[in-house]
Amino acid sequence: MQDQEWALEHPQGPVAGVAPGGSVVVARGLTKAFDGRLAVRGIDLDVPQGGCFGFLGPNGAGKTTTLRMILGQSPPSSGTLSVFGLPVERSIREIRARTGVVPQADNADPDFTVAENLRMYARYFRLPRAVVAPRVRELLEFMELADRADDPIKSLSGGMKRRLTIARALINDPELIILDEPTTGLDPQVRRMIWNRLRQLGHAGKTLLLTTHYMDEAERLCDDLVVMDGGRIIAQGAPRALVEAHVEPYVVEIQGDAATLQRLLGSLPGVRLERVGETGYCYTASLAPVLERLGQVPGISHRHRPTTLEDVFLRITGHELREA
Ligand SMILES: Nc1ncnc2c1ncn2[C@@H]1O[C@H](COP(=O)(O)OP(=O)(O)OP(=O)(O)O)[C@@H](O)[C@H]1O
Ligand SMILES: [Mg+2]
Repeated sequence: MQDQEWALEHPQGPVAGVAPGGSVVVARGLTKAFDGRLAVRGIDLDVPQGGCFGFLGPNGAGKTTTLRMILGQSPPSSGTLSVFGLPVERSIREIRARTGVVPQADNADPDFTVAENLRMYARYFRLPRAVVAPRVRELLEFMELADRADDPIKSLSGGMKRRLTIARALINDPELIILDEPTTGLDPQVRRMIWNRLRQLGHAGKTLLLTTHYMDEAERLCDDLVVMDGGRIIAQGAPRALVEAHVEPYVVEIQGDAATLQRLLGSLPGVRLERVGETGYCYTASLAPVLERLGQVPGISHRHRPTTLEDVFLRITGHELREA
């Protein structure tokens, strides 16, 4: 598998309609209402060209609704939205021709084989015949599906279906790739394989826009991200910058009742105590005094680690993470 070579054969040239360093997607006051209920409440977006931009947020935050508006699949209720410098409502065909889509649920056509599904998409984009055969072959190899080319969809595992959906999204060599929860429900190996491929696409200059419930995925892949909650953007920035801005550098996770932890640690300066279920979380810039106090109580179980995007998510959304 010649990973790097594939990416280098397809370097993304300048994106028409977007100045160098400009934004591929621009939204201002973007709003979507369903039956009078607001799913997206006046968000502003600037998705820079190249690199990976993430949407995080709990179930129902409005992530998929936003992606569907960007793709022209769902008209905004108000606000402005442009992709490649084109107004979405008047340029759906051109935007679709230059975009790849990995929807939240896999939807390959069960009546066709793996390769036929890719060829069908190529026809949808009216790609010249001479381009299609080598591209299908190349994409099947890129997503490690070459030995499944002639197999029916129902014989594929969940991970294979996901890889096919990603291959299909690349059939038109898109400048912008939109992925709605690309690795939800996949085993760790497949997730890592997909991360590698997405990184290669990023290195080749593609713009990636993805949603995820996995904070480790967002930390690994995203150069920049927004956290949505209740239809609003409640935080925005690079993953590391968000961690630095919103949470203390360390957290000690402690199994112990709330009253004991409050008595032990509550009086230490610069310490913030949180609780999720049975676990207490002690956030601090200075580990030593916390560990010293915990050491005074025999049998109390604890572990410490640097804070991550997961801690940011818990703090700013006030929600527990969903297990995908
Ligand atoms: N077609 C629709 N008709 C009515 N309400 C909708 C429709 N699509 C989405 N909604 C509502 O809009 C809100 C946002 O939904 P959306 O699917 O965008 O959330 P999400 O952030 O993608 O969530 P998840 O993480 O569960 O995928 C929810 O309250 C949802 O019920
Ligand atoms: Mg969704």
